[in-house]
Amino acid sequence: MRHFRANTSFRFAGITEDVQRLKTLIRSALHLISWAPPLSPSLLNIACGRADETGVLLESFASHSLSGIYVGLDLRDAEIAEAKKRWGHLSSIDFPIEFRVADASSIHSGPRKITFDLIFIRHQNYWDAPAVWERIFQQALAQLNPQGILIFTSYFDREHELAVAALRTRGARCLLEIPHTQSRELPDAKGKSVDRMMAIFVNPSFADKRPAILVNHT
Ligand SMILES: C[S@@+](CC[C@H](N)C(=O)[O-])C[C@H]1O[C@@H](n2cnc3c(N)ncnc32)[C@H](O)[C@@H]1O
Repeated sequence: MRHFRANTSFRFAGITEDVQRLKTLIRSALHLISWAPPLSPSLLNIACGRADETGVLLESFASHSLSGIYVGLDLRDAEIAEAKKRWGHLSSIDFPIEFRVADASSIHSGPRKITFDLIFIRHQNYWDAPAVWERIFQQALAQLNPQGILIFTSYFDREHELAVAALRTRGARCLLEIPHTQSRELPDAKGKSVDRMMAIFVNPSFADKRPAILVNHT
């Protein structure tokens, strides 16, 4: 397996361990739904912020790939600049890694001509701006390949439930909901922890019609 190392260290203590735990969570989730990315995967990381998750996403979905594409989008200039600094050295002609300042809720600002095998949203922020996130989810589903998957994680249980409901309302089908048993608690808000919950959704065109796997907190 290839490892994708950042060019600069993460900004805060604990992130290296958080993203390693995220990798384990992704591996368990993919195993549970029996999904594997194509050999030349197209990956979209929406609301990527500083894109701490990039290395783990490349290791999880492209570790054997000689070609593919990775696009990270966020509204914030400073975060995207930091993401480019951290991961830009991994970009190649056959596997471009791009970070763009873009509004993911608007069809006019994202990468329109391409659809994706994997769309990943880490720490979706639904209750910050529900109407915006409704549009982000709408755009994400429109950019998902028929056999592609949309994965998101959440900081809070309630915010997670709201995002799940928003996707269901838009016709998306839930394949998996799983709590992160090793999630690190964060002191700035009650009930907040890193990648606390993960869900995986697909469009109705997705071939496998098995019912959702729902794993509860124990
Ligand atoms: C909670 S942060 C998560 C950042 C990163 N994924 C992580 O987990 O560290 C939520 C991110 O959503 C981004 N965001 C909010 N609305 C957005 C939009 N309409 N388009 C793109 N990014 C957006 C914010 O700028 C912020 O970086």
